[in-house]
Amino acid sequence: MGQHILEMKHITKEFPGVRALDNVNFQVKRGEIHCLVGENGAGKSTLMKILSGVYPSGTYDGEIRIDGTSQAFQHVKDSEKAGVAIIYQELALVKQMNICENIYLGNEITKRGVIDWEQMYVETEKVLKEVGLSIKPTTKVLSLGIGKQQLIEIAKAISKKAELLILDEPTSALTEKEAENLLQLLMELKKKGVTCIYISHKLNEIFQIADTITILRDGQTITTCEARELDEEKLIALMVGRKLTQRFPKREQVLGETVMEVRNWTVYDPDIPAKKKIKDVSFSIKQGEILGFAGLMGAGRTELFMSIFGCYGHAITGEILVNGKKTNMTSPRDVIQEGISYLSEDRKGNGLVLTQSIRENITAASLSALSKWGVIDGNQEVVAVEGYIKDLRIKTPSMEQRTGNLSGGNQQKVVLGKWLMTKPKVLILDEPTRGIDIGAKYEIYNIMNDLVSQGVCVIMISSELPEILGMSDRIIVMCEGSIAGEIPGKEADQEKIIYYATGGGRK
Ligand SMILES: Nc1ncnc2c1ncn2[C@@H]1O[C@H](COP(=O)(O)OP(=O)(O)OP(=O)(O)O)[C@@H](O)[C@H]1O
Ligand SMILES: [Mg+2]
Repeated sequence: MGQHILEMKHITKEFPGVRALDNVNFQVKRGEIHCLVGENGAGKSTLMKILSGVYPSGTYDGEIRIDGTSQAFQHVKDSEKAGVAIIYQELALVKQMNICENIYLGNEITKRGVIDWEQMYVETEKVLKEVGLSIKPTTKVLSLGIGKQQLIEIAKAISKKAELLILDEPTSALTEKEAENLLQLLMELKKKGVTCIYISHKLNEIFQIADTITILRDGQTITTCEARELDEEKLIALMVGRKLTQRFPKREQVLGETVMEVRNWTVYDPDIPAKKKIKDVSFSIKQGEILGFAGLMGAGRTELFMSIFGCYGHAITGEILVNGKKTNMTSPRDVIQEGISYLSEDRKGNGLVLTQSIRENITAASLSALSKWGVIDGNQEVVAVEGYIKDLRIKTPSMEQRTGNLSGGNQQKVVLGKWLMTKPKVLILDEPTRGIDIGAKYEIYNIMNDLVSQGVCVIMISSELPEILGMSDRIIVMCEGSIAGEIPGKEADQEKIIYYATGGGRK
């Protein structure tokens, strides 16, 4: 057996108008953790879909060898037989079924032609233990959080005796602790001989677990090297093809009048009417200000802003003033009309229609502004959309491309374009750079700075502390549905935020 468990040679893959991969070579050694990195649209997910048979042999050029043997996968099942397991960012579990049913779906153990449930439960218990979960195999997947569902996907891969495990941005929806557990588990699996290909935009994760790193840019392999030969600065330069001297662009702070004020905002849990999800939250934001909202996952930040936007909770008390006047907003439409826009953290659920074009998605919330007497001004629409594609560097052959065909990070940029187009007074960004590569993050920060210099207020909810610290004029920290502390940007550091976020300082 050779040193390489996987060799992908001269892989080229084209979509209409896009050469996603251009003569890519990728080799993975047995037993290593190999990180695959690169900007949004570089071709990482496409390469992994070729490897796992999502794109069958014949739809691309080049060769795949596993343990030296040439492979022509027609289907995901074929790659599974060869020991490959891929875990997508959008998890593929059947939520209504229980853990055991999911793990053995399509691979049921049978004894004399009858499904052997007893054996399957015993085996499931074993693999659950291996991934560090102590829950019953009969638990419905529905009742588990994303972090545990991810572990079940891995348990499923283990039960299939996968030798090569592929994870495509597995931690983007996990809490810090869950992400840490996942990385620990991957290192455990490595000790047991499992090889892992890991895709992530988070540099700290990459340097924590990678043995080897391969960098893709614009569909081409830039280099493969050992992780210890690189540091963050070198890796970023290789990824974006230029030096990024600073991670956060500078800005002159000029504050104006108070634009929005939220007073005594309380939201009752839609499922448990007696329980308060948001407790007496009051804050305001001034023209030209970037206000950061920090907190642990589940602190209520998303619920707070979704309720302000009119799409969460029925029983709400409190009031919102815009430019000093009380408002009476009951739907997202009213809120947008008042000049408040909200980019949701769940781009697939609330932000985008994947079957529609980039143009249709970007203009979806601005149609009234683009229309005269009910007719859309097509010319104005095209010019505006062109502008956003250019400013946000959305990688696409045309504005008519189906949004679902874009890479994950480029989809996120389309949602941002959609809300920028509404020309808001207050722009609320919920995890705006999730899944976005380092270079594009910098561009998004630049756009935020431009907006505030034009007098827009920006509220940024983010779980990435460096970004909150690097960009905010002021930081509000939430904990369990209330405001736990407020810190001026200049005085803020990680420790202070974590102190408030974990319940410190509360009376
Ligand atoms: N089904 C498709 N049809 C047309 N173009 C596609 C399709 N899938 C991917 N592409 C294009 O191929 C290129 C590579 O996309 P891919 O999803 O592999 O990028 P990625 O490196 O995974 O990016 P990200 O970090 O944003 O997830 C992009 O330009 C993308 O728009
Ligand atoms: Mg991807």
